[in-house]
Amino acid sequence: MKIPPSTATTKWAQTGSESARLFAEAQAVLPGGNSRTTVYMAPYPPYADSGEGCWITDVDGDRRLDCINNYTALLHGHAHPNVVEAVIRRVRQGSAFALPTREEIALAALLSERLPAVDQVRFTNSGSEAVMMAIKAARAFTGRAKIAKFEGAYHGSYDYVEVSLATSPDTWGDRSAPASIPYYKGMPESVLDEVVVLPFNRTDASVALIEKHAGELAAVILDPVPNRVGLIPAEQDFLAAIRDVTAAHGILLIFDEVISFRIGYHGAQGLFQIRPDITALGKIIGGGFPVGGVGGRADVMAVFDPRGGAPAVPHGGTFNANPVTMAAGLETMRLADREQFQRLDDLGAKFRGGIEDCFKHARLAGRVTGVGSLFRIHATDRELTDYRSTRLDATESQAFARLVRRLLDTTRIHVPSSGRPRPPRSYARSSVVKKR
Ligand SMILES: Cc1ncc(COP(=O)(O)O)c(C=O)c1O
Repeated sequence: MKIPPSTATTKWAQTGSESARLFAEAQAVLPGGNSRTTVYMAPYPPYADSGEGCWITDVDGDRRLDCINNYTALLHGHAHPNVVEAVIRRVRQGSAFALPTREEIALAALLSERLPAVDQVRFTNSGSEAVMMAIKAARAFTGRAKIAKFEGAYHGSYDYVEVSLATSPDTWGDRSAPASIPYYKGMPESVLDEVVVLPFNRTDASVALIEKHAGELAAVILDPVPNRVGLIPAEQDFLAAIRDVTAAHGILLIFDEVISFRIGYHGAQGLFQIRPDITALGKIIGGGFPVGGVGGRADVMAVFDPRGGAPAVPHGGTFNANPVTMAAGLETMRLADREQFQRLDDLGAKFRGGIEDCFKHARLAGRVTGVGSLFRIHATDRELTDYRSTRLDATESQAFARLVRRLLDTTRIHVPSSGRPRPPRSYARSSVVKKR
């Protein structure tokens, strides 16, 4: 893979930039200057100043096309006027109460209507909490402790789902029966003992492992388009087999739709026609504010029901269903009608195709995976089927880091003194970034 050496064309990268100054300041009060591992980059990140639609301006005045959208959480770009309006209206009425509000009922109703496998919803403040509550619900419902998850799959910052999140060839063991490997230093052995790790998209091996542990498993958690497994969609037969074997053994199937709700008006469950027992939600349903949600069959969700004494799973949370998030989420999801989902799908297909073309034109090793408006770039020509096949070796990782750096440096947008921002000429001609 040949990528020209990075040339810093942006102000952010220059010595003495405001981003460099902020990062120096941050390191004194935040470990490594950072509160979110996923947004760290060496030697320091550009600091965001503002966002409008699909553009972000950093504190140094560099403007870039935002293809991450806060890791897929924003559906209509930055500061959509209707969402801003809904939030301001709600904030003026008060932003947090030790009482429920109207908005949570309206958003729960919208989600239950759209997601085929969701009768009821309970809100949390993050996708990680939603996953945690889904697992607690499954344990309470089944009376079993263990869970099964897929190798490499990310489901947020909760111990049980962090098992085997970032394994490497020296630790990952047999492809058909992956080892349970700790993700952070100090992860208790007892956590590893409670998690069965399954190989993604390998039907026979996964079914065999589920059957082997059937009597002990409360749930299988599955993201149908798992980002860290390379954003490779689950195969239809594989999903159907997992649904069948879990149902046969009274094991609950949890779909993690924190990201995948984005791929269809009825979520991934609508697209793949699979009915999980529990669905974990997050990201887009909060309209740009912190959110999570756990939804599912009414009989399963009854574990949270506080009527008539302590519920099977008590669930508090100072900011659960806070009305600002609910108002933003409601407006966002109402704007996201079938037409908008179609538009997103079309943009996603065009984007993936454009990037594939760039790789071909430049004769670089590269692939793009994804579905709907989701995409992931891989600095390799290998066939990609599962976590192991998408894990980059040292050379590929370096090439990928150079590519990311190059994109950060060259997606600069010239802002003419009169008129709208436009991409540099070389980009305007490419199929990746169209002239607006
Ligand atoms: C599939 C999936 N599940 C769960 C989470 C955790 O969500 P949060 O970051 O809101 O805790 C994420 C976050 O990226 C995710 O991608």
